[in-house]
Amino acid sequence: MNVHPTGMTEKHQRPIRSFVLRGGRLTAAQQNAMDELWPHYGIEHHETLLDFDDYFDRRADLIVEIGFGNGESTWRMAQQEPDRNFIGVEVHQPGVGHLLMALDANGIDNVRIACEDAVPFFQQRIPAGSLAGIRIYFPDPWPKKRHHKRRIIQPEFVNQLARSMAKGGILHLATDWQPYAEHMLEVMQSSPEFGNLSPTGDYSERPKWRPYTKYEQRGVRFGHEVRDMLFERT
Ligand SMILES: C[S@@+](CC[C@H](N)C(=O)[O-])C[C@H]1O[C@@H](n2cnc3c(N)ncnc32)[C@H](O)[C@@H]1O
Repeated sequence: MNVHPTGMTEKHQRPIRSFVLRGGRLTAAQQNAMDELWPHYGIEHHETLLDFDDYFDRRADLIVEIGFGNGESTWRMAQQEPDRNFIGVEVHQPGVGHLLMALDANGIDNVRIACEDAVPFFQQRIPAGSLAGIRIYFPDPWPKKRHHKRRIIQPEFVNQLARSMAKGGILHLATDWQPYAEHMLEVMQSSPEFGNLSPTGDYSERPKWRPYTKYEQRGVRFGHEVRDMLFERT
């Protein structure tokens, strides 16, 4: 089956997505957070460019984290980096509920959340050259060959990420799945808009400030080696 550049297949005309929406109901507390806290922290779905002034009451370097899972890394980084603004993008609603509760419990206000697919979100909503950083930690590895096309790190999406970033911005990737790490390096090496910050041209040391994520801890329990990769938008 042919895959069009739009990500649609000829047969089904449906986009190839990097996620499968897991079931998993919101707990009562998460539902309550969606009702009470989403109006403050949430970015409603639209298809027009974002005006960040609508969401943050100050201008600051903006970091986007894609696929934050339960958001533990998101709120910890936002707390550690109070001079920056953050947007977290995640499709899984219970994770969004979890993050909303953590933001509220820790009095953190430099984070806003989009609960939707990051691929169209970047295409439609992020102004060119506006981001100081993008962080993608432990994206779904899609280990089977027939699923590799579902991996979020693909040349087209990396072009989109490059377009959204200011020069000097940092793209930070991490994975515990070695074949995906190699795929990421291959895709990134073929992008002229990014330079690898690794002194050895491949992996970088895990920056001490990067929080351990839930998915990472699972990988470590399975004995997987964790790879961090840091690229500068040139
Ligand atoms: C393997 S989990 C890792 C979660 C978290 N970063 C961690 O390390 O614990 C990948 C996450 O990315 C989310 N995800 C995958 N594709 C996405 C997309 N296109 N847009 C937004 N979220 C996505 C999934 O819902 C899932 O929560």
